Amino acid sequence: MSSDVLSIIQPDDWHLHFRDGNALATTVPHTAKAFARAIVMPNLKPPVTTVAEAIAYRNRILAAVPSGNNFQPLMTLYFTDQLTTAEIELASNNDFVQAVKYYPAGATTNSENGVTDIETTYPVIERMEELGLPLLIHGESTDSKVDIFDREKVFIDSTLAPLLARFPTLRVVLEHITTSNAVQFVEQQAANVAATITPHHLMYNRNDLLVGGVRPHFYCLPILKRNTHQHALLEAATGGNPKFFLGTDSAPHGKADKENSCGCAGIYSAPGALEMYTEIFDECGALDKLEGFASFFGADFYQLPRNQSRISLTRRKWEMAESFELNKDVVVPMRAKETINWHIVDATDEK
Ligand code: DOR
Ligand code: ZN
Repeated sequence: MSSDVLSIIQPDDWHLHFRDGNALATTVPHTAKAFARAIVMPNLKPPVTTVAEAIAYRNRILAAVPSGNNFQPLMTLYFTDQLTTAEIELASNNDFVQAVKYYPAGATTNSENGVTDIETTYPVIERMEELGLPLLIHGESTDSKVDIFDREKVFIDSTLAPLLARFPTLRVVLEHITTSNAVQFVEQQAANVAATITPHHLMYNRNDLLVGGVRPHFYCLPILKRNTHQHALLEAATGGNPKFFLGTDSAPHGKADKENSCGCAGIYSAPGALEMYTEIFDECGALDKLEGFASFFGADFYQLPRNQSRISLTRRKWEMAESFELNKDVVVPMRAKETINWHIVDATDEK
């Protein structure tokens, strides 16, 4: 393999926020450019809580896929206190719905309708375990006394470990992990427990958020942690362990909602996500590990076929745009106006 061109099976994004309405015209093409499939988060307003709503949302996404592109959205249901075992059964029998997303109520953007007390939902989780329907977890404690930098670790100890002790074969993805504690916990579990890792948690730490001024475009949840945690994530992502796979958590918010006295959490990485992961793996000397992380391990975990199509990247510098239209505002992407060292091969490269 030449070190300047990389050809891999086309990757999938196993954790993504598309939003809805006019935003889809921006978000869907950005993801469909690089990824064959994506697990689409259900935290709309109001949230996607039924299979019928998930299918309607899927159709709105498909309507925004550029013609000639075969991108497939994989849908999720939002776990509320009212979720029933009957809906779980419908979801399990539906080819378009892949998983249920659990937000502790109040943990993050549009999580107000999340679960207030996980133990009261155990009958529903028991049915998910029986049917093999994956539970995707936003793993942060919402206890107001818990420091924001400790919320992932506290959640693992106080909620996730007891959950898995009670439901040892439940298929779980601990989403967008941010700490060495999460890496170690996932490594210690059986194959039914995996984790996604974002480009921003690999590329940045809390100094990037806070040194020299507060940078609202680096604010996301779970919040960026100290650099020792960042290094643990880099080792996990590039280490070839199939428990860790690609999930961007690309989460667009309008510029006015980010550059605000109470700025929203979320980093919009979709326009360059694959290129950024490639850059990160390259810098770690681990380009040979990118395909497993980006294209194989997630599909294997979700028990879906690996993609057949391929995508090539080349070591060619380009500049990320300053912003993209989003509804009546713009969204500032991750790495706005910065140089990115890898580019998806297109007609320009084939001259
Ligand atoms: O930073 C985040 N943004 N974290 C989340 O968990 C949600 C997401 C969003 O929807 O904006
Ligand atoms: Zn997310």
